[in-house]
Amino acid sequence: MDVPALAGRSVSVILAGQSESGAYVASPALEEYRYSWLRDGAFVADAMSRVGKTASAEAFFGWCSEVVLARAERVEELIARHRSGEVIADGEHLPCRFTTEGEEVGVPWSDFQLDGYGLWLWALDAHERRHGTRLDGAAAGAALTERYLAEFWAEPCFDWWEERRGVHAATLGCVQAGLAARGRPEAAAVREALHELVEPPLDGSLLCLAEPFDLVDPTALLDRIEAGLLSPGGGVHRRPADTYYGGGEWLLLTCLLGWCRLRAGREDGARAALRWTAEHATPEGDLPEQARDHLLAPGWYETWSARWGPPASPLMWSHAMFLTLAAELGEA
Ligand code: BGC
Repeated sequence: MDVPALAGRSVSVILAGQSESGAYVASPALEEYRYSWLRDGAFVADAMSRVGKTASAEAFFGWCSEVVLARAERVEELIARHRSGEVIADGEHLPCRFTTEGEEVGVPWSDFQLDGYGLWLWALDAHERRHGTRLDGAAAGAALTERYLAEFWAEPCFDWWEERRGVHAATLGCVQAGLAARGRPEAAAVREALHELVEPPLDGSLLCLAEPFDLVDPTALLDRIEAGLLSPGGGVHRRPADTYYGGGEWLLLTCLLGWCRLRAGREDGARAALRWTAEHATPEGDLPEQARDHLLAPGWYETWSARWGPPASPLMWSHAMFLTLAAELGEA
């Protein structure tokens, strides 16, 4: 499938994966992914907004606002307890994913992830600017999310991959983008904290700091990622020693790499990343979570596929990043 056809197909796949509530499922194909993550959803809504599918993006933002507002009392109580010096346990925080009806999934161990809360505020603001609109229906939930982040941004939480607990550079980048979008003064402190992190561990999620958040020099970051996480064929791994499904190349990260290359003035490299991603579509035009051209830990592929079946496909977040890169390159 060529790039414009695959971009069109991506829009259809995303619309099919959006529930009436406005939530996007991470992937309809895998039981464990039939939930709506704020992180995945924010990038999906941002992509849909870029390609003019405003109703879809706005339905998602409205849903985000509702899920946060439904927890308003809890948020106010957490803020009050935190201000009085109490330590808040991970399981008490707002979760990283919900059912499409906005219920909690109830697997608390890695559920505390702040990045998605920053990301939806960032995507909402970008959407409003792009289309010169103001979403009144999302305003109250956005204001509450902003208060939650302003209070808790420095807390250690789980990373993009839901594996490691700590203060992560990519998470800080997403949170600062959300706070900055809302004009909150705490955004400056988050930026400072980010720049104080000494050499964050090598991780594909760092790419977001260059694009879309413009917080670091894209060239230096690309050098590091390309030296340590680029597979021989051109796909991007999540991190060294990744074992999830054998640690293949993630399509969404490859598109993010392409976007950073574009920012660094390397348009040919950006198009190569787009082509690599298109080449990994299934014959029907679905984009999976990861490819297995080059596995970092091959033995683990069977372990995971015996447990859950093949890697999630289609993954909405892969389709979203493909659409975004294609749009940035004028190919969608
Ligand atoms: C990834 C998360 C993602 C989730 C749903 C997990 O395997 O590590 O980043 O949000 O899948 O796509």
